[in-house]
Amino acid sequence: MSTSAQIGVTGLAVMGRNLARNFARNGYTVAVHNRTAARTRALVEEFGGEGEFVAAETAEEFVAALERPRRLVVMVKAGEPTDAVIGEFAPLLEPGDMIIDGGNAHFADTRRREAELRERGIHFVGTGISGGEEGALNGPSIMPGGSKESYAALGPMLEKISAKAADGAPCVTHVGPDGAGHFVKMVHNGIEYADMQLIGEAYQLLRDVAGYEPARIAEIFRTWNTGRLDSYLIEITAEVLSHVDAATGRPFVDVVQDRAEQKGTGRWTVQIALDLGVPVSGIAEAVFARSLSGHAALREASRGLAGPAPSPLDETEAAAFADRVEQALYASKIVSYTQGFHEIAAGSEEYGWSIDLGQVAAIWRGGCIIRAAFLDRIRAAYDARPDLPSLLSDETFAREIAAAQDDWRDVLVAATRQGVPTPGFAAALAYYDALRAERLPAALTQGQRDFFGAHTYRRTDREGSFHTLWGGDRSEVTA
Ligand code: 6PG
Repeated sequence: MSTSAQIGVTGLAVMGRNLARNFARNGYTVAVHNRTAARTRALVEEFGGEGEFVAAETAEEFVAALERPRRLVVMVKAGEPTDAVIGEFAPLLEPGDMIIDGGNAHFADTRRREAELRERGIHFVGTGISGGEEGALNGPSIMPGGSKESYAALGPMLEKISAKAADGAPCVTHVGPDGAGHFVKMVHNGIEYADMQLIGEAYQLLRDVAGYEPARIAEIFRTWNTGRLDSYLIEITAEVLSHVDAATGRPFVDVVQDRAEQKGTGRWTVQIALDLGVPVSGIAEAVFARSLSGHAALREASRGLAGPAPSPLDETEAAAFADRVEQALYASKIVSYTQGFHEIAAGSEEYGWSIDLGQVAAIWRGGCIIRAAFLDRIRAAYDARPDLPSLLSDETFAREIAAAQDDWRDVLVAATRQGVPTPGFAAALAYYDALRAERLPAALTQGQRDFFGAHTYRRTDREGSFHTLWGGDRSEVTA
């Protein structure tokens, strides 16, 4: 066997297979390997004409087929399977070689693996890859972490196979050291959950308050997709809503059980945000909304609870309401991205990653699930001011929210009156109002904490920590 392959992919389920084909179609010789060799043979038989593949039956053959420094992409399930594959291949590698984990790994696992392999001189590159099957084949958004040296050897190849933004820039960048790439992918998925939840709420409002049928709502989403909401998720929403179930002739969305599932990356985003102390309320509501939807027995037991039944608006009012929903959706979306970028900034600070937020927005412009015209504006905002305290501090976004806010509030009033649950819209508005508030009830919280637990408080007019003798004469003492 020749040592001619520039890159190798092990784990040839659909994502791995498509990624291997993408490398081959871009002119690279790709060594391919799978635990069951039949899959390797099937790939070469079916797609061998697309480029140069070297089929390897064993781990030793696979490693021997790679030119040095070796670039070995692992596309297996996150967790134990990834550790098992690393355990199998690492002993066969030499210093300077790279293991690239393209799965949805938890960034803490990536940090651990990176540190362990670094001891042996092997570069471990935890890499977020977004775009699903189609993206893996035709151009995903790629978020590699790991060392600078590994990016020097790998980056140009990733740039070639990645999606390209409208300005031609490849949707890949060296995100930062060790787990930075998987961290950013995790937050990408958290934002994905929030985007999907907000779109779901907009749909429900158009259905219950405006009284529109799914086909009509699909048309509205198509129109929105030509404006500032232009994005992959809005585009596919229109497709899903206009789809009619062949068996029943009913809208597809009416025959699917309303229980959303999740594999866990959105949940991680919220768990980590809690650890970092970053309020990602919009993302959290999206995760909770999925979990609430899955509590079938609880929902069944609660169906008869009192509340208003939605009564649809008349035709003219409905059209005006739909416009207001677009405003509410857009404003809430700005808030979710604000929260997601805050989490990335906090993670970067905590782990010393120096993540360039403008670059993150730039590589999400194409290929990934949250790709959207809007991300180019986030890129521009961070490029103009890398130390932007929050996206809401950007003048353009602040102006847009200012223009949207009356409608945003009206939509929430209508939703509340009519009993349509809109946790994402509501959380976004509450976050916005809390940030802009002159005073928050946190002062009262501090007073309560001091009352029952002598937890102390700080004053607005003097430095230091204080405690009030609540059980005594209520005088104040320096704590
Ligand atoms: C992507 C997707 C991808 C996957 C998610 C879906 O960026 O390509 O986010 O990673 O579709 O795992 O996650 P849930 O199953 O949790 O919705």
